[in-house]
Amino acid sequence: MTFLQFYREYSNRLDTLNKTIHNLKDSSLSSVTRSLWNLDDQQLVLQIDSMLKVPDIVAVRILDEEGRLYYEAKSSSNEKDNDKYATSAPLIVKNHGISRKIGDLKIYATRQNIERALIDNVLFFLLTQFIKTVVISMIIVMVIRFYLTKHIEQMSQFMKRFDFSSTAENKLVINRQNRHRDEVDDLIESLNTFVEKLSEANRLKNETILEQEKEIQIQKAASINQARLASLGEMAASIAHEINNPLTVLAFSGKKLEQLAESDEIDNGRLIHFTQMINKTIQRMCKTIEGLKKLGRDAEGDQMLDVKVHELVSNVLDLCQVSLATKGITVKTNYNNINENKLINCREVQITQILVNLLNNSVDVVKDLNEPWVVIETREIKNTLHFSIIDCGPGIPENIETKIFQPFFTTKEVGEGTGLGLSISAQMAREHKGRLFVDRSVEHTKMTLELPFN
Ligand SMILES: Nc1ncnc2c1ncn2[C@@H]1O[C@H](COP(=O)(O)OP(=O)(O)O)[C@@H](O)[C@H]1O
Ligand SMILES: [Mg+2]
Repeated sequence: MTFLQFYREYSNRLDTLNKTIHNLKDSSLSSVTRSLWNLDDQQLVLQIDSMLKVPDIVAVRILDEEGRLYYEAKSSSNEKDNDKYATSAPLIVKNHGISRKIGDLKIYATRQNIERALIDNVLFFLLTQFIKTVVISMIIVMVIRFYLTKHIEQMSQFMKRFDFSSTAENKLVINRQNRHRDEVDDLIESLNTFVEKLSEANRLKNETILEQEKEIQIQKAASINQARLASLGEMAASIAHEINNPLTVLAFSGKKLEQLAESDEIDNGRLIHFTQMINKTIQRMCKTIEGLKKLGRDAEGDQMLDVKVHELVSNVLDLCQVSLATKGITVKTNYNNINENKLINCREVQITQILVNLLNNSVDVVKDLNEPWVVIETREIKNTLHFSIIDCGPGIPENIETKIFQPFFTTKEVGEGTGLGLSISAQMAREHKGRLFVDRSVEHTKMTLELPFN
């Protein structure tokens, strides 16, 4: 619309200019003719100068009857465009009824001023539009910021800082003075309801997790106890043997002592022999019972102490030897490069528990084989101690190699295996900064407990 207006204004001004030229021509034609006829140059100059003073008129020319330039006047400001707009009229004198052309009057005008004014107007219009747009945009931004963005930022800050673990009531409050309720209020309310529901759900979930964790802890404790009881039960049988044997010795020695006492001549040598036998047997029984008492308890809180490697192995043997022997299993020890006084810093009871677990597993596998055997081996490798139990069994399939260390994984019949022995043992090994692994360095089944020396 505005540009249409500009165009109309432009063409109006051009019309006006056109009229101006023609009026000028009409009004000055007779006087100019007269001056030229009278050859009154002074008057002619005055007349033409006054014509040049009219706005937009840039040149006036007088041509003689043959069309040659007789006189010319130009406004200094414009030369280039003076032929753009022109009008011409013949100068005619009437003498004794005869008309005679004595020359031509040519008036030149320029459209430059009109065009410049048009450009100025357009530029001014564009500039004011631009400023208007900028100002209005700024006002809109400020209004949006005041009524919306500011609050959205507060909401986003609130969401970012929201702490689900905090039990304190956490609500978004935005102070919006004296206003009617609108969508922003709705949004704040929904946000608060959402957060409230989420917190509640989170709280319930945490409670459930805590309860489940408690349950798991209880189950874990129960399982560990069960595993310990199972291995104890297993050992109960061997204890019976372990105690039965010395009891036989005691009974035999007692009987011999009785016979000696009844005989007339007391043989002091034999007396001492049987008394010593009784004492030694009682000592051995005490040791066995001591070992069993230790093995049955939770050693997690025990101190790490320096223990002789050889002693550790012989304690394990004390606990299992008879049970192995009654099953016809040959047991050998091989200390390799570990000398008699070599110490290892550990919780003795836990290490014994691990080795007994490994031995029990081997016994389970080999007891029904022909000429079964197990070897208890120690070896020092790069500042670590390897305790290994090797058996003559068929081995552990590679596809269950990692699974056997998982709790409750067992390939044994229900009631025979708990599937906890290796997982508990591996855990205890880790507590010693060591590890328990299937050692594939030999052709037989070899389980190795690796412990660091320091
Ligand atoms: N010396 C071994 N020879 C063959 N398989 C073994 C041996 N030691 C352990 N395993 C396998 O690892 C499984 C898990 O052992 P463990 O954790 O002690 O549980 P459990 O003895 O109660 O089954 C056993 O069921 C058995 O399949
Ligand atoms: Mg086991």
